[in-house]
Amino acid sequence: MNGQRLNVVASAGHGQFPTEPLLSLEGVGRRFGGLVAVEDVSFTLASGELVGLIGPNGAGKTTLFNLITGFTPPSSGEIRWRQKIITGAAVHRIARLGITRTFQNLRVFPNLTVFDNVSVGAIGRYRYGLLDTLLHRAARAKQVGEATWRALDQTGLLPYANELAANLSYGKRKYLEIARALAFDPQLLILDEPAAGLNDTETGELSAFLNRLNRQGLTLLLVEHDLNLVMNLCQRVLVLASGRLLAQGTPAEILANPAVQDVYLGSEEAA
Ligand SMILES: Nc1ncnc2c1ncn2[C@@H]1O[C@H](COP(=O)(O)OP(=O)(O)O)[C@@H](O)[C@H]1O
Ligand SMILES: [Mg+2]
Repeated sequence: MNGQRLNVVASAGHGQFPTEPLLSLEGVGRRFGGLVAVEDVSFTLASGELVGLIGPNGAGKTTLFNLITGFTPPSSGEIRWRQKIITGAAVHRIARLGITRTFQNLRVFPNLTVFDNVSVGAIGRYRYGLLDTLLHRAARAKQVGEATWRALDQTGLLPYANELAANLSYGKRKYLEIARALAFDPQLLILDEPAAGLNDTETGELSAFLNRLNRQGLTLLLVEHDLNLVMNLCQRVLVLASGRLLAQGTPAEILANPAVQDVYLGSEEAA
């Protein structure tokens, strides 16, 4: 694997056998003009799973996340959430149904406080139109406040609630993004390269944190460049190459898969 030594310490998995299908993709594709970014991708996620998505740069990983979360409509195929078709649904609707995400490039509002950054997520979750806002202003404000404090607590950001986001370290800003997504109270959290830019210690802490979230019942799907993190943390791994799903399986199966090794060999950019 590209000369990288992969230290799979223990096979990932928490002893719970996932049963309930949460998300399913069938034949999902996306073209940009003549470019096929994602093609004929099918897989399912069960409730409670922690799944990694890997593949070289340009494989279509971010595009696939955009398709699931409504940022980009698919050109073909069907996406279902708890059996209901959500193909092409708007971002806010998908988020309210229970799928939220973080971005490969941080999207933090530097001039807002940490609290306000996170409450943006909670407001999105609890705002149901003007009439509702007028009728239930106090109740909604309370819900937003509670969801925000809960997300800050979960991510260890409580001590920084009143700091400007700009004053946070890069590592803390990553948790801020996750906190904003958690304030939406999702069932599925989708993370695009959460460990990018973190040092080894921070990456280890992040891995433990994501593991904890998963143990608390949150389903996670993450794209990650750091293969050690993916192979140690994830119960199942999907491999995307040139827009297509090349393989899926346990970390051990993926590491032993010759087709996967081919994709990574000679590719210094493998992510
Ligand atoms: N909005 C877009 N318009 C045109 N091409 C795009 C767009 N988004 C992604 N692509 C292209 O789709 C392919 C997959 O990109 P991306 O999903 O970002 O890959 P990855 O996240 O795996 O690195 C790339 O060739 C990229 O240039
Ligand atoms: Mg990407």
